[in-house]
Amino acid sequence: MNIQQENIQKLVDRRAKARLGGGEKRVEAQHQKGKFTARERIALLLDEGSFEEYDMFVQHRCTHFGMDKQHYDGDGVVTGCGTIDGRLVYVFAQDFTVTGGSLSKTMSEKICKVMDMAVRNGAPVIGLNDSGGARIQEGIDALAGYGEIFERNILASGVVPQISGILGPCAGGAVYSPALTDFTLMVKNTSYMFLTGPAVVKSVIGEEVTQEELGGATVHASKSGVAHFAAENEEEGIATLKKLLSFLPQNNREEAPLRPTADPYNRVDDALNSIIPDNPNKPYDMYAVIRSIVDDGDFFEVHRAYARNIIVGFAHMNGRSVGVVANQPAMLAGALDINASRKAARFVRFCDAFNIPLVTLVDVPGFLCGTHQEYGAIIANGAKLLYAFGEATVPKVTVTLRKSYGGAHIVMSCKQLRGDLNYAWPSANIAVMGADGAVGVLYAKDMKAAATPEEAARIREEKKKEYDDLFNNPYQAAQKGYIDDIIEPRNTRFRVIRALEQLAAKQQEVPAKKHDNLPL
Ligand code: HXC
Repeated sequence: MNIQQENIQKLVDRRAKARLGGGEKRVEAQHQKGKFTARERIALLLDEGSFEEYDMFVQHRCTHFGMDKQHYDGDGVVTGCGTIDGRLVYVFAQDFTVTGGSLSKTMSEKICKVMDMAVRNGAPVIGLNDSGGARIQEGIDALAGYGEIFERNILASGVVPQISGILGPCAGGAVYSPALTDFTLMVKNTSYMFLTGPAVVKSVIGEEVTQEELGGATVHASKSGVAHFAAENEEEGIATLKKLLSFLPQNNREEAPLRPTADPYNRVDDALNSIIPDNPNKPYDMYAVIRSIVDDGDFFEVHRAYARNIIVGFAHMNGRSVGVVANQPAMLAGALDINASRKAARFVRFCDAFNIPLVTLVDVPGFLCGTHQEYGAIIANGAKLLYAFGEATVPKVTVTLRKSYGGAHIVMSCKQLRGDLNYAWPSANIAVMGADGAVGVLYAKDMKAAATPEEAARIREEKKKEYDDLFNNPYQAAQKGYIDDIIEPRNTRFRVIRALEQLAAKQQEVPAKKHDNLPL
């Protein structure tokens, strides 16, 4: 072997050692927990052979607590770029086998490097988190490292999609990086997120709770909404991340890729002509409507288990990626509450930031009322959704299926919030409130003064009919141009697609400003 060959062999050996992370024993322990290693995860995520790794030889610079004798090439995180379905992405995956994936200053530098490259080159960043948090031996250096990452999360927000997979522990301030990204996925039973773990919770407030109950995937996907997706296992989780990316553009200057479909753009669905029950208080399933109108019935739902009275997610319509926002009459009658407003507002803002048109399906009886909602600031939270739709400049197509009452009518992408094309089914009723409530307010005195209960009932029914004739239909709104057309339900797919085609080159501005002041 000559010197050059020796040097090459040295490189090969060093790479092989780096690829082993914290060593076989720790890799085995990772597998025993039902978890993959950082490199195995990257292999699952990226197109085969596409991964280019950076900073494989980076080492930490800490000398305290014996760390000067503990060096691993790569220092607990694998970073680089590759492709998913042929499209460039940047990725970092924390390696739990090296000091528990804990974050050192050099690890943060590696992560920041790929984030900077992602922004510069206009490609999504995917972070796979599996870490014991700040590397305790490094003290303030580790904290500073988090600060550097958070600042980049903030600056990259709305520029490139940022996606977090939580595939192990994520605790303390470390949770804020995923929280700053656009989408967070967790895996049931092997990942958790919380500010303080069960032991501290018990000592501080005396509450006994398990890791899973405090910050597991199911909890965050259904109760807090911190996680957008909860996967059964890592394979399913990584497949979900890949599917999510297929709906997104690479950055805020581009459009999402077209997905060719054999589903005819003018396909009619007669079932939609009889989906609305005669009784206005009876629910129906909004998922059936969504699946009927999108390409191939393929709807990719976001936040499926959280605030189920509103549905948000991605689909394609004639090959074009769209964001769907729909009230769900089968859950809380489709009323808007705090969680539904926050959920939908965040989704609408994501779509607007990344040039994804919005298709809004409306059947909303109003906002949920009561002290629980008022004390929880339904006013400010409802305003978030109002704000999100009102500021959005992407194409906005709205279809009102049935109820659209009061403030909720305005919030759900109405014409006055710069809705581009607003359609209604013949079953739509657009009014300040339903007939019962309206008559109760307007004719309370007359009904009280009625000589007999029968007389009061007669007044109620007569006035309800008058109110229904006037408002329990879409024609009042159509006469005034507040909706653009009344459409047959069976034609909804075709009409929405045609609207989106018309709006494909839409240009709309918001006034110049430093930034807005969304009611947080
Ligand atoms: C340094 C760490 C570490 C950390 C784990 N390790 N966490 N090393 N700093 N924060 C090391 C362990 O010493 C061990 O090293 C290896 O990683 C695996 O850890 P184990 O404890 O053996 O694994 P496990 O039993 O699975 O427990 C995982 C764990 C636990 C629950 C994450 O390690 C743990 O509680 N760690 C501390 C968590 C924490 O309090 N972090 C600080 C949060 S505050 P060896 O050599 O034996 O393999 C924070 C502030 C951020 O992060 C602020 C941002 C603004």
